[in-house]
Amino acid sequence: MSTPPDVIRSAYAQLAVTDLAAARWFWVDMLGLHVQHAEADALYLRGTDELTHHSLVLRAGPVAALDHIAYRVRAPEDVERAERFFAGLGRPVRRVPAGTGTHGVGDAVRVVDPLGFTVEFFHGIARGERLIQRYDLHRGARIARLDHFNVCTPDIPAAYAHYRSLGFGCSETIEGDEHELYAAWMYRKQTVHDVAFTGGAGPRLHHIGMATHESHQVLHTADVFGSLGKQHHIERGPGRHGVSNAFYVYLRDPDGHRVEIYTSDYYTGDPDHETFRWNVHDDRRRDFWGNAVIESWYKEASPVLDLDGAVQPVSESVLDESSVRVGADGLGIVDGTKG
Ligand SMILES: [Fe+2]
Repeated sequence: MSTPPDVIRSAYAQLAVTDLAAARWFWVDMLGLHVQHAEADALYLRGTDELTHHSLVLRAGPVAALDHIAYRVRAPEDVERAERFFAGLGRPVRRVPAGTGTHGVGDAVRVVDPLGFTVEFFHGIARGERLIQRYDLHRGARIARLDHFNVCTPDIPAAYAHYRSLGFGCSETIEGDEHELYAAWMYRKQTVHDVAFTGGAGPRLHHIGMATHESHQVLHTADVFGSLGKQHHIERGPGRHGVSNAFYVYLRDPDGHRVEIYTSDYYTGDPDHETFRWNVHDDRRRDFWGNAVIESWYKEASPVLDLDGAVQPVSESVLDESSVRVGADGLGIVDGTKG
């Protein structure tokens, strides 16, 4: 296997949306993302702490879907490394020279990874003005930056092995009694994750996680949706996660794309940082206060596009975390059998 690219962090997601005006209302007017660049059929958005051109691209398209996720790599040579690495795996690979791909992004390579996701690796990207202390411009959810991607994939061990081969660490997992893997949180930057895997039919995008600085901004975001009679965009929470310790709320945009407003996870940068393992029967794992996860959160997700913009077919999952139930004594029940 060739040397993997040196990935710095999850950098941006590009979503296909069916109504750009409705998407703008949600992501810009309600969540307060900064519009760095606008075209007739696309918006390039970022948070207040981000100095790179965008962390979210919304592009009008016929189907609501994930176009691609993108990771920034440390040096221009890492783009070549990514090309060789995925070609060596026998995966589809396409060079995207600067000026031919996503606006603001330099030379890049796009691949279809072993999980079936279209993933871009780039180094160069245009800069944006420093907004962290432009408090006069901070609005909505006060989103600071993109934090992570969460993807639905039917084979969690295979996803884990692939991202380990790319040099990702693992901060937390959800495991069964025989240590079968239900979910994993993996990182390159020194936080809980850049990518996490949720079991289920895949490849699909479960959500993108956007970081805000204060837990009260999560509450405020939910309050504003309620005030405007737009509470149907709130899917789950606010609450405290067991995994990651983050305070969260999940929202659905007008196309059904899910976003998590996320704050207060923790540092993982020490080289001997150990994986924290949750048992799938522990009802604090998904919500530390034991609130049940609603079915739509486990079952619904965005389809993903291949390199040519066609919707990827999905495979069904083997393990189903949503079928694990918690009894009155707080112990789990799997398929009707007390665990
Ligand atoms: Fe998340």
